[in-house]
Amino acid sequence: MSGGTMKRIGILTGGGDCPGLNAVIRGVVKGCIIGRGWEVVGVEDGFDGLLDTAKMRELTLDDVRGILPRGGTILGTSNRGNPFSTRVLRDGALVTLDSSETVLENIKKLRLDAVVVIGGDGSLKIALQLQEKGIPIVAVPKTIDNDLLETDVTFGYNTALETATDALDKLHSTAESHHRVMILEVMGRYAGWIALESGIAGGADVILIPEIPFDINHICEAIEHRRRRGSRFSIVIAAEGAFPKGGNRVVKAGADQKHAVERLGGIGEHVAREIELFLEMDTRVTVLGHLQRGGSPTTFDRCLGSRFGIKAVELIENGDFGRMVCLKGREIKSVPIEKAIKKLKLVDANGEMVQCAEELGIVLGR
Ligand code: F6P
Repeated sequence: MSGGTMKRIGILTGGGDCPGLNAVIRGVVKGCIIGRGWEVVGVEDGFDGLLDTAKMRELTLDDVRGILPRGGTILGTSNRGNPFSTRVLRDGALVTLDSSETVLENIKKLRLDAVVVIGGDGSLKIALQLQEKGIPIVAVPKTIDNDLLETDVTFGYNTALETATDALDKLHSTAESHHRVMILEVMGRYAGWIALESGIAGGADVILIPEIPFDINHICEAIEHRRRRGSRFSIVIAAEGAFPKGGNRVVKAGADQKHAVERLGGIGEHVAREIELFLEMDTRVTVLGHLQRGGSPTTFDRCLGSRFGIKAVELIENGDFGRMVCLKGREIKSVPIEKAIKKLKLVDANGEMVQCAEELGIVLGR
């Protein structure tokens, strides 16, 4: 570790990308260099980069110039890499190894005093393990799913909401013209935040979320009721993790060597088939997919990402390691990483936002 007050800080982005990552990187780089005179080392491709010093490079103010409006991450990311469980080929067979000692050696070689990990629940679990191994870590909560505890919101979520709401607005006009039921399938993994909040903002008639298993009869009754009242179209938004009462989630692929977690997808088509069967109405499905992760971050996400980045630097300066920056009300604070990853932050099925949706006449399928 470097002596005195001069510090060298590593920074990496782990897991799926999301809008606002570059704002955090820029915030950390500026916070370290301007005023503090510290150095920053960017680690490429998530945790994989910690295993290979060729993937670590110094970041200067020039590197972060003009990146605020850019989606993605200038450092690259990966949702596979885990130094505590790396897969390597040995004698023609894939074996799993603990490579965390290599991480320690590389951190020493690069003379890093701390590492900023920007990630969702999977990445933060690894970050905590690295902290327990003696590497000073500060975490920044990232995910479009908004499913991390202890922060009011994660950056990236607001941009994803904008994309989903815009899609609902666009689907409305074509649904109305063709008298169709339009189904929009959105991301969110096991949480229904994107579907619920953009569904309210975009005036959906039906919102399906994983926290409330649905009954297809209630969905069909709602659409039929609208038809009888003269609205010959309906808009359904379904979170990818939504599933019918007594049924299962629709999964595209289980966890495998490429993906640490199962890949959800297909609930939109499932619901469309059932509606066609029961109501004989024309249906179309739009799967919004990775459009929700791309594009320029909203003002909110740029600002939140920048504030998170600066707070992460302050935590390092004060020696507050093993903590995650977070938003509480209007203030940027921090909490121990372990508190944020205890379980997923899910929608409260009886909470205010669900109640609001129901009082607006939106059907959640229960
Ligand atoms: O966690 C973010 C997320 O976009 C989820 O909403 C989605 O289920 C998953 O990642 C998709 O991951 P991948 O990029 O591996 O397809």
